[in-house]
Amino acid sequence: MSDQVIVFDTTLRDGEQSAGVLFTERDKVDIAERLAAMRVDVIEAGFPAASQAESRAVSAVARQVRGPSICALARCVARDVDAAALALSGAARPRIHLFINASDVQLEHQLRRSRAEALEIATAMVTRAREAVGDVEFSPMDATRADRPFLAELVRAALAAGATTINVPDTVGYALPQDVGDLFRHLRQAVPELERAVLSFHGQNDLGMASANALAAVAAGARQVELCVNGIGERAGNTSFEEVVMAIDVHGARLGVHTNVDTTGIYPLSRLVEERSGIQVPSNKAVVGRNAFRHASGIHQDGVLKHRQNFECIDPARIGHPVGTQIVLGKLSGTAGFTSRCKALGFDLRGAPLAKAIEAFQALADRKRELSDDDVRAICQSHAGPRTS
Ligand code: KIV
Repeated sequence: MSDQVIVFDTTLRDGEQSAGVLFTERDKVDIAERLAAMRVDVIEAGFPAASQAESRAVSAVARQVRGPSICALARCVARDVDAAALALSGAARPRIHLFINASDVQLEHQLRRSRAEALEIATAMVTRAREAVGDVEFSPMDATRADRPFLAELVRAALAAGATTINVPDTVGYALPQDVGDLFRHLRQAVPELERAVLSFHGQNDLGMASANALAAVAAGARQVELCVNGIGERAGNTSFEEVVMAIDVHGARLGVHTNVDTTGIYPLSRLVEERSGIQVPSNKAVVGRNAFRHASGIHQDGVLKHRQNFECIDPARIGHPVGTQIVLGKLSGTAGFTSRCKALGFDLRGAPLAKAIEAFQALADRKRELSDDDVRAICQSHAGPRTS
């Protein structure tokens, strides 16, 4: 039996919290439509109380995008809850996502409220949100640094007030995977009522742990993960959509979970978000980086040419990659890579001409980072025998 992990995409909300990113209403609708086509379960479209433009953009997504639940963020403040409910009024499946500081450091130095006050406010605001919509998510912010008994109390109060999803955020990207697993197991034990709700994880990437933390949460019982395409988001970013979805695609059978996401939309979605956010995807980014399926060393080229799985754990077709596995010819390439490119270009080299061509190739590769097809063609033409086609 495999459990479904709900994929909650927050590219349009937490992703937009990346410094320098602004999604227009058009951007939000276009990205949300793409996410819906890929069968993402929940789309967090924005934070309506932030501005009128933000509220209009969330409204547009709520009216136009069908399939996933459309979610709006709100602080535990009445005007935020009302703004979220209003912006979601055109949605077929609206969700309000409420949050309040839960760690002592944030309660004291940001919210400036006591634990008892936070409990009271959260209860009142979850109740208010539930009067507006049937689906309410509650996040005790900075949960991984919060006092455990208080966190459990806050979660209990939110559930009693009607929260349907409890999201546990690692707000400052502080936790290690073992901490996250331990916290999720602890919460499930301390708050048995959680069995009737969905338990979720939201992680920032300050220590580069976000994807590992999300998977640790899933292994410990989380059945929703909050993700951003290309891992964009506040500071060092959010848990990467493509990394977690593909990790579940590759290891789901072992973990006993699956998602409903059509993974073949991942590569085009990544490029769309790259274009609209203006944040370039690093070439070595897992899954969607430009080098993710490009093999440069001779040993790897030889292996992948014999059998792709020798050096790839993801089939590039699975993420809708337009090119797929590539051999990149350069200083570290070997005979296998070079001869395979010669063949692909229609040159059948053997014996002495092949040896000479390899020598010429290596001499050029010592000076040039990446050899083009024209370079290979020129080498073949001056050293090789007849073309194969
Ligand atoms: O990082 C965070 O804690 C958040 C919450 C609102 C879930 O973004």
